[in-house]
Amino acid sequence: MKKLIILAMAAMLTACAGGAPASQSSASNSGGGLITVGFAQVGAESGWRTANTDSFKSYFTEANGFNLIFSDAQQDQNKQIAAVRDFITQGVDYIDIAPVTTTGWETVLQEAKDAGIPVIISDRKADVSDDLYVTYIGGNFEQEGSDAIKWLEGYLAENNRSDDELNIVHLQGTIGADAQIGRTKALDTAVSGPHADKWSIIAQQTGEFTEARGQEVMEAILKNNTKVDVVYSENDDMTYGAITALKNAGIDHKDVIIISFDGNKKAIQMIIDADIDCVAECNPLLGPQVGDIIKKIEAGDTLPKVTYSIESVYDIKNAEAHLPDAFGS
Ligand code: AHR
Repeated sequence: MKKLIILAMAAMLTACAGGAPASQSSASNSGGGLITVGFAQVGAESGWRTANTDSFKSYFTEANGFNLIFSDAQQDQNKQIAAVRDFITQGVDYIDIAPVTTTGWETVLQEAKDAGIPVIISDRKADVSDDLYVTYIGGNFEQEGSDAIKWLEGYLAENNRSDDELNIVHLQGTIGADAQIGRTKALDTAVSGPHADKWSIIAQQTGEFTEARGQEVMEAILKNNTKVDVVYSENDDMTYGAITALKNAGIDHKDVIIISFDGNKKAIQMIIDADIDCVAECNPLLGPQVGDIIKKIEAGDTLPKVTYSIESVYDIKNAEAHLPDAFGS
């Protein structure tokens, strides 16, 4: 009996020390010919994230030769680092990380390297030296932002509004995330450079990539600013929240140029319904592509250090055609 209690206490202590999130499944099993992959996911903050998780879970199955250990960090980098350490302890064959933020990864990635576990970085980049990971696959966020700016310039020109003075509300994603840094840089560059005389960012605040925060932040912004010409929102979920806030403030959101990022089916439908003007795409369907990377590593192939997703921009001209292929619901 005493032995049983000691064993139970030891198990509890191990769980606490490992810091493994509750959503993480049990120990890996590299036997049976399966390749064990630990996936340290950001969280479940957005429709994009749900589609990204589904893409990994539906690809990394036993039928495809994989054993997936999935961890949801709830947007907390410390939890994500703890999950990676737990993967190392379990002796997984590969680790895939979608880093919450770009910084803070050197130590744990060195630990993975010392343990001989190859690391793939997907979705968002990490700011680490090249020898600490095999390859990155995911979005080119500054390019997405530049594409959105280019769309805005074209839209203004087509509507004879290039000389308009624009008040821009900028809803940012999680501060320090690669997706936030790139999309913000593109807007900041346009506003401080070629459009310095006409475009002003009247508010720039994080909505943490969630609909609830997007609405909350937009409501607060609208208390002090009623002339809003453009909303540049760094993901669809914050855009939904911002539109609710505009409606609640009695502002017709159809009079505001609304630019969003990601391309959920719901957002593409909202372009068709004239609720959103433009969506710069970000592709979440990375599971099979990470699977291909692992197969190439197994085969001894050399991989590029960076592979960017091929991404488009959607507006009223091409939304209808894209709708059937859009991800999510
Ligand atoms: O890193 C990709 C971003 O993260 C997506 O734009 C956003 O929706 C998600 O939460």
